[in-house]
Amino acid sequence: MSEVALLQLIGLIVVGCGIAILLFIRAMFVRVVGFVVIVLGTFSLIALGVPQMPSLPPAIETFDITKVKTPDDLAAIGQKIFFSKGQCALCHSIGPSESARCPDLKGIGAKLTPEFIYESLTQPQAYIYLDFRHNGPPKEYPARMPYINKDPIGLTKQEIYSVIAFLQKMSGAPISIKVEDVLKMGTQEDEVQVAVVSHDR
Ligand code: HEC
Repeated sequence: MSEVALLQLIGLIVVGCGIAILLFIRAMFVRVVGFVVIVLGTFSLIALGVPQMPSLPPAIETFDITKVKTPDDLAAIGQKIFFSKGQCALCHSIGPSESARCPDLKGIGAKLTPEFIYESLTQPQAYIYLDFRHNGPPKEYPARMPYINKDPIGLTKQEIYSVIAFLQKMSGAPISIKVEDVLKMGTQEDEVQVAVVSHDR
């Protein structure tokens, strides 16, 4: 017998006892108790009749990267990461969006090389942006793009290159990420490079 059925049976017995008390016992106080028991028992029976919905934690999908055969497979994984673990869609849109707070990534895969995108994701501070939109010496402004390869997002190199494959596919560019290269990738970080990009107008 299931747990719910057992509870329903107990409820029925409680209600039955209440009815028996009302039918056979004259003492006023006991009759009041019997009435209360019937009301409570009926309520719990109704509550138990409501369909139960188990709340499960969200399913975690894992990918076996060695099963990836084509660049399109890689882009498909990248798409999942973009919208889930990578949290990219929290900030970025693909195509114009009113709610996007950050650069629109449509076309980015065709405009930027995979190496440059990889660096934007893992070394967002590597390019020191200079802000000239005010008087006086230019100010450095820190990048707001998070480090994608560190906590809390913490994507592996393979995951990052899958996302880049997705960005290339979204841009209509041929996917230049090679599956065999991704399979070979470890988690070692590349060297930090620093360059200065000025936003001069
Ligand atoms: C917290 C918000 C946020 C998240 C999450 C985020 N980004 Fe960004 N991203 C930015 C901002 C802001 C910039 C603009 C540069 C800057 O200020 O650092 C940027 C810049 C970029 C650029 C460079 C664009 C250019 O034109 O040079 C790329 C590529 C990029 N993000 C991709 C991603 C991907 C892929 C993910 C997910 C793995 C991601 N971002 C997650 C905020 C975010």
